[in-house]
Amino acid sequence: MIHRMCMGLLPPKPHTTLYENGKLLMEQMVTRQGFNGPYSILYYRVPPTDEFEVRSLELPGFCPVKLVEKQPLHRRHIRTQDFKPRGDYLTGRKTLFVNRDVQIGLCKATDAPGGFFSNGDGDELWFINEGSGVLESVYGVLRFKKHDYVLIPISTPYRIRFDDNRGTGLIFEGRPWLGVPPEYRNNWGQISDYAPFSHRDFRGPTELLTLDGETHKSFELAIKMGDELSVHKFKHHPLNVAGWDGTIYPVAFSIHDFQPKTGLVHLPPTIHTNFAGSGFVVCSFVPRKVDYHPQAIPCPYAHASVDMDEILYYVDGNFTSRRGIEAESISLHPKGITHGPHPGTYERSIGTSTTSELAVMCDTYEALRMTTIAAGIEDVDYHRTWVDREGESEWLLDREKGK
Ligand SMILES: [Fe+2]
Repeated sequence: MIHRMCMGLLPPKPHTTLYENGKLLMEQMVTRQGFNGPYSILYYRVPPTDEFEVRSLELPGFCPVKLVEKQPLHRRHIRTQDFKPRGDYLTGRKTLFVNRDVQIGLCKATDAPGGFFSNGDGDELWFINEGSGVLESVYGVLRFKKHDYVLIPISTPYRIRFDDNRGTGLIFEGRPWLGVPPEYRNNWGQISDYAPFSHRDFRGPTELLTLDGETHKSFELAIKMGDELSVHKFKHHPLNVAGWDGTIYPVAFSIHDFQPKTGLVHLPPTIHTNFAGSGFVVCSFVPRKVDYHPQAIPCPYAHASVDMDEILYYVDGNFTSRRGIEAESISLHPKGITHGPHPGTYERSIGTSTTSELAVMCDTYEALRMTTIAAGIEDVDYHRTWVDREGESEWLLDREKGK
């Protein structure tokens, strides 16, 4: 929920008649938390309930996922540069990390989208690392571009059409929710002026879907619920909507609209929080000025985050604290062991005034389990790259040299 939007035909009051060309439209309420949460009301030209056939579907690597049997505790580097592009926004999608609260996946699409999909397990957040295109959903057409986040509410029928059919997205599935952190709102629901973004930074759908010639075709919708996929066949196109209003609908947000904050000395990553869910946060690290105390050390300190796993997806720029990491790399620094800057990067950051890093971080309370897809593209040497020779760090070598 960002703010209320409306589009197309609406009656003056909910739950009253609405006609289009003399034909009564069917109202649908989409509600969160029973009737206590945000809601939207949609008006359909044909009832969205006329499904008549259901069959099971499996898309291995996404649904179901296969976890590695044993995951020893160590730092990990997943090279999504080596992830094979294939399929469309749905068939090419694979899951890399899983816990009870969030599933993190990747898609490198090469094909035009097939059918529509609805995720009943949680809100989805796509970070578009490559490509641009449109999200077509029951709420209409939402255009997105490179480095946008696209937030898709739970149980929204949608498909993603990348321009030239090619695009890369990092995908978070928040169970059951993912959205603007509650602390960024005032008591009246408005995004506070001290939040790192404003209402104006979120873009909603711009027009309703046009279903030329498709309206009366039978239609299939893939639904994910309880980590199982099923395909539902409808007698009419179930996205045939004449109007809607409410606070549930997809939005796009450019990571470049995130307003970074800098302090006298290093501010914790919490300051970069962009989205939150139950048991996890998604943070945006964007180019910014760094700490301005004359003796400040801008590079992050060694960090024992004893309650949270930390995922970083490196997008662009200079990743000041890490070596051997490239754009598209994902690092996992699990709770239980200390993580920190690579040897040399801490010292070299002293006196710097800016950073060009662009990255997406996810911190989770529950430990993340790695899938076999992630294990297949893991750089297994990453854990020991904090020492250059066995047992000797640059830090120690520098001290021996009297630096
Ligand atoms: Fe950390």
